[in-house]
Amino acid sequence: MINKLENLANEILLIILSYIPWFQIIESFWSLNKRLNSLIYLKTLMNNNGIIIHKRFLSFNRYHSIMTSKICDLLSFFSCIEWMDIDGNHSNYDDIICQWIFHREILYFVNLKKLILRECYLTEKSLKNLSLLIQYQLDELILIFDKNIFALFCYGARILRKRFNREYKLMLMFQEFVRRLFSDKCQLTSLELDLSTDFFNVNIHKCFSTITNKPVTHCMGLRYLHIHLIYGFLFEHLIEHVPNLEILSVQFKNALLWKNSLDSDTTTFIPTNVNWCNKIPKLKYFSLKSAINSHLQFDYLKWILNNINYIDKLKVDLYIKYLMDFINVIDANFLRRYCIPDILTNLIYFDFYIIFKCRLLFSNDIQKIIDSFKTDDFFSDHHWTNIKCFFDPILSCQHISSTTIIKSKFFHGVM
Ligand SMILES: *[C@@H]1O[C@H](CO)[C@@H](O)[C@H](O)[C@H]1NC(C)=O
Ligand SMILES: *[C@@H]1O[C@H](CO)[C@@H](O)[C@H](O)[C@H]1NC(C)=O
Repeated sequence: MINKLENLANEILLIILSYIPWFQIIESFWSLNKRLNSLIYLKTLMNNNGIIIHKRFLSFNRYHSIMTSKICDLLSFFSCIEWMDIDGNHSNYDDIICQWIFHREILYFVNLKKLILRECYLTEKSLKNLSLLIQYQLDELILIFDKNIFALFCYGARILRKRFNREYKLMLMFQEFVRRLFSDKCQLTSLELDLSTDFFNVNIHKCFSTITNKPVTHCMGLRYLHIHLIYGFLFEHLIEHVPNLEILSVQFKNALLWKNSLDSDTTTFIPTNVNWCNKIPKLKYFSLKSAINSHLQFDYLKWILNNINYIDKLKVDLYIKYLMDFINVIDANFLRRYCIPDILTNLIYFDFYIIFKCRLLFSNDIQKIIDSFKTDDFFSDHHWTNIKCFFDPILSCQHISSTTIIKSKFFHGVM
């Protein structure tokens, strides 16, 4: 008896398909028969109408010819695709975006709403196409820049030789693209932007500081922003452009630095008296993740928190090092002083996780820390007395956290 692939049950075929990269599925199985087509539909549906392109696929010429030969057949299938997750380390964005998501002037994926670009190294062509997507098509974008691109910019800026001019121009286009994300040329409601690889000359970080006499425009639709950055001054610029923001999550790459020490004196932080209520009045949830290694950085943290003292939910995630002379333990008193706004109006949830590199703590020290929350009026009034605390003897760290878990559909997968 000859066994054919088609003799297998649907459930088994679906398992087999889950091991095969997306392009190969299309190459090998699309249009063979109705049953396989409907299984491919079903697999996409099971993946919440999304496709993931993470594996190195066929050579561009080969997949391009497959795609274009089957394109008439595929168009109705493409219309069910709502999101795409592409890893640039294993695929070429330019080809995918310019030749395939867009085919010349035509958008193949009419219902594409969300795009995830990892290890992103875009070129002039794909940046242009992407600008159109954020203006007219997408609701959600996750953009993680490739670290090599910033290294190139750095050399491009320093060595103004001819062959680097191209990289320098590209860097200006990237800056322009980041500005565009926060302008009226962008209809996104949700944006995650990872600029943490911008460490050479911090070119992208300066995309707002270098521009002066242009009119300020706003991205009115943006409600959720997660930004991973190196210096805080960038997000202070960004919030000027997103008046309807509801959720803001900021992650610092190294420590809670507001500026590059090469650019200016960072031994002092002079807090100005402002409140972000005028800039982002709808903000409900703020989350911050960073290491802290000087007490000036606590001044900066406190300043940020005082600016957003009108929010409902706050999450602070810190790793505190090199401050054993300044701090003994992290307890209720410490949190009240450094990690919560001075004046609270609406705060309902306060969620924190702090790791503090400290001296040896004994179990009675831990008990004292836990009790400090029960005896503190502020924490007991808010019923925030359920605390977890332990000492890690190997790394010599105090771990302390709240036990409330803030659930938000937006934060799924982010925090
Ligand atoms: C990119 O791919 C190479 C080899 O395929 C791998 O060694 C490297 O870790 C990948 N980089 C990232 C950031 O995933
Ligand atoms: C997308 O980019 C390609 C390559 O630069 C270009 O030919 C095409 O016209 C662009 N699509 C749109 C809709 O602008």
